[in-house]
Amino acid sequence: MTKLHEFTNDFNEKVAIITGASSGIGQAVAEAIASYGAYTVFISRSGAEKIVAELNSRGKSALSLPCDVSDELQVKNAITKVYQKYGHIDILINNAAINQIAKIEDISLEDWNKVMATNLTSQFLCCKHVVPIMKQQKSGKIINVSSIAGHFRSKISGIHYVTSKAGAIGFTRQLAYELAPFQINVNVVCPSQTYTPMLAATLPPLEEQKLIDSIPLGRIASMDEQVNVILFLASHLSSYMTGAIIDVNGGQF
Ligand SMILES: NC(=O)c1ccc[n+]([C@@H]2O[C@H](COP(=O)([O-])OP(=O)(O)OC[C@H]3O[C@@H](n4cnc5c(N)ncnc54)[C@H](O)[C@@H]3O)[C@@H](O)[C@H]2O)c1
Repeated sequence: MTKLHEFTNDFNEKVAIITGASSGIGQAVAEAIASYGAYTVFISRSGAEKIVAELNSRGKSALSLPCDVSDELQVKNAITKVYQKYGHIDILINNAAINQIAKIEDISLEDWNKVMATNLTSQFLCCKHVVPIMKQQKSGKIINVSSIAGHFRSKISGIHYVTSKAGAIGFTRQLAYELAPFQINVNVVCPSQTYTPMLAATLPPLEEQKLIDSIPLGRIASMDEQVNVILFLASHLSSYMTGAIIDVNGGQF
């Protein structure tokens, strides 16, 4: 049994893939998992070479794979490279996403499709190509990143973002059911507003204090407060959890 103080050993020599790992929550999770000894694969559109080089210079084992997660061929090639290099894949964190603020009448079909492809189809594609490997291993941890917007609603984001994040919840619950016989855990986290580049790009400066006043815990989340929950779900400590929807939202319902 893993005890709490052994938590960090859990990641030693595991192979972990994190999408959207060049910024924000994805970068912070990937850096944490790498620092605990996992072979950590940073997937992002533009690559995360600088971050990875810095980790490797400290004796960690990180790899940067540039990949657009909405493109099936790129996803398939990236997963194949990881499997050929390490021979197993233990953790997949589907975190990449984009956000847009717009009212429904102003959303073009192109924007709708882009948000759905980046936020939801990407989770399907990464799982589709990782699942056969995890099934063969009879083990694996998949964590999908949704949002308070997908579990409840959003005061800021467009309906395409909210719909993609709600989709991640249904996707997670069904996949958890399909994969339970193979001892693969699939869970979804629903962060609320967190200080990251995405929030900086979407939160109008004058709205910040109003938002803080509306949060029961009285503050916007730090990245660490999201990272800790994702690490818990990626570890053995959550071994009996699958299909769970985890709100990390300061008490906002
Ligand atoms: N920050 C918040 O307030 C907040 C709140 C709720 C949910 N979330 C969710 O948390 C996750 C991380 O958000 P963040 O705030 O760290 O965002 P961020 O914008 O800082 O990072 C998003 C990452 O996704 C990558 N990405 C986008 N499109 C991609 C594509 N097609 N292929 C590969 N990579 C792609 C970006 O390059 C970036 O690295 C997202 O799923 C987001 O929806 C964030």
